[in-house]
Amino acid sequence: MTDIDVTRLVMDFEYYCATCLKIRTKDRRVIPFSHWYPSQWLIWKSIRRDWAAGRPIRKIILKPRQTGASTLTEAFLFWTVHTCPNTHALVLSMDNDSTRYIFDMARNFYENLPEAVKPMKRYSNRRELVFENPDEKSRSRNPGLRSRIEVQTAGKYVPPRGASFNLVHFSEVAFWPNATDIVPAIIPMVPDLPGTAIIYESTANGVDNFFYNEWVAARNGDSLFDPIFFPWTIIPEYSLPLDSEEEREEILSTLDEDEEQLRQQGLTVEQLKWRRHKIDAMHGDSDLFKQEYPATEQECWMFSGEPIFSRKILKQIKPQPPIWRGDIDVLNERLVPNDDGLLLVWGHPEPEAQYTIGVDTSSGTGADYSCMQVLKRTWPQGLGDQVAEWHGKVDPVALGQLAVILARHYNDAMLSIEINNHGLTTQSEAQRHYWHFYRWQYFDRVGRTYTQKIGWETNISTKPLLIDRTIACLRSGLIGIRSEHLLREMWLYVRVPGTMTYTAESGHDDRVCAFMIAVVTSFIEDPDASFVYTEERPVLVKPPTSNRLGNVILPAPFIDGGDPRGRHHQETKSWLVL
Ligand SMILES: Nc1ncnc2c1ncn2[C@@H]1O[C@H](COP(=O)(O)OP(=O)(O)O)[C@@H](O)[C@H]1O
Ligand SMILES: [Mg+2]
Repeated sequence: MTDIDVTRLVMDFEYYCATCLKIRTKDRRVIPFSHWYPSQWLIWKSIRRDWAAGRPIRKIILKPRQTGASTLTEAFLFWTVHTCPNTHALVLSMDNDSTRYIFDMARNFYENLPEAVKPMKRYSNRRELVFENPDEKSRSRNPGLRSRIEVQTAGKYVPPRGASFNLVHFSEVAFWPNATDIVPAIIPMVPDLPGTAIIYESTANGVDNFFYNEWVAARNGDSLFDPIFFPWTIIPEYSLPLDSEEEREEILSTLDEDEEQLRQQGLTVEQLKWRRHKIDAMHGDSDLFKQEYPATEQECWMFSGEPIFSRKILKQIKPQPPIWRGDIDVLNERLVPNDDGLLLVWGHPEPEAQYTIGVDTSSGTGADYSCMQVLKRTWPQGLGDQVAEWHGKVDPVALGQLAVILARHYNDAMLSIEINNHGLTTQSEAQRHYWHFYRWQYFDRVGRTYTQKIGWETNISTKPLLIDRTIACLRSGLIGIRSEHLLREMWLYVRVPGTMTYTAESGHDDRVCAFMIAVVTSFIEDPDASFVYTEERPVLVKPPTSNRLGNVILPAPFIDGGDPRGRHHQETKSWLVL
């Protein structure tokens, strides 16, 4: 009668889809869900990893339009509801039309199930499929699956009191008007257990919304959600056949800058033709195309601000995976390896090399991060290369201690600490144990002398210096950037139009700020660098040479006696134990 292997249906989602589910294609055919798009494989492989390991499934999917993400997600929900009794699944969607679309998909799955495996269904007037015995009399003896899948419009849906779900799918969440209110109310209704799933899925829709913030948090590793992105180019259907050889020539001879780049990434002329057609249909708005059909993750975020750092230059920089990852162990004053550590390293200290550490400080509470960027000075080839990045939440005193250990590790690096607000705490803590700091030297008009201030202060007059100098160094290829996180923050660092205010579209600018401080203070401190940018170089009154070590001015006042280099590790042990 039937040759469906029921045991396999329960264990094998791919087999289930191929034997039980039918989908309605874009050209309205109803076909078995057996040939998946590469995007669907990507999503499933990610889900399967957690599912097989017995971990709760928490995914955030950033996708181009019409790549089968809803279909795959709904199929997964349907499979679970169908094969595990007492499972409740909830899909929240952006508006009535999309709710109907998704509900129809689920109903279509049900109606096309092979008769042999069709569960009993109880009718419901809501957008809900209830797999339960419809007959009240026999229900207590033979209840059926007691599972349900419910599709609702976000914003209109009020979950019943005490509701609990095993699987929740938030569809096109970037388009919900009030996701920030709705989502946090639903999440606690999903227990933190194996087999449960929470899946956000959306096309990008600007950066001023819940989805964007969740995506960035997931990307930064600050959330339990795994980010999944795929470009439009992996969908085989997004391609148009060429009419003739002439058409190929014609397209190839008229490539614009974006197309040139896509071509270098290996796109076919057929794909470029499809792209041109799609952009035409969007009235030539290629920015809209990038948002809805991104080829890279960055492309899909439309920006309200004007980028500070040239996107063209940033695009050419290839981030590198760190060669070492670990943490700074304050008690034992050393770096310890850790796969999830906060310190990423691209270059270990080299003898004779000089380093600068830019420190962006924070209160260490709430969403506030601190960051340290280690730059190796590479003059005369360049100004500096990023060799390490530490990013985390820590109180200002502890940050001072971490900075000292990191600085000692990097050949007694120059510490350039931002002394605004909490930074003064960090600076003063570091000063108790260390000697080598950046000093801002300025001409005091009243005293008619050069005066020094320890640490970097960001204010209205020094912020442009930070930014302009970093832009100039980036443009002339003087600095090496390694961290993908830093690159992303730089990409999203913008000026609010018409103002002198800078903001981070990513929500965070700790990495960029620490980096800019490292760049600028290295530059100012490096006498050799002077002849490149003479017009911007401050005039330094140099102390007697005996007080100088390399190009570093040895400070006097704040060293508590003894070895001026502060390498009295034994004595300093005590402060480390708080
Ligand atoms: N593997 C597949 N093969 C053919 N068509 C598919 C496949 N997966 C989905 N589709 C069809 O593609 C269209 C878009 O799917 P959908 O899941 O709504 O995409 P998205 O949610 O990414 O916009 C639908 O008509 C769907 O039936
Ligand atoms: Mg969808």
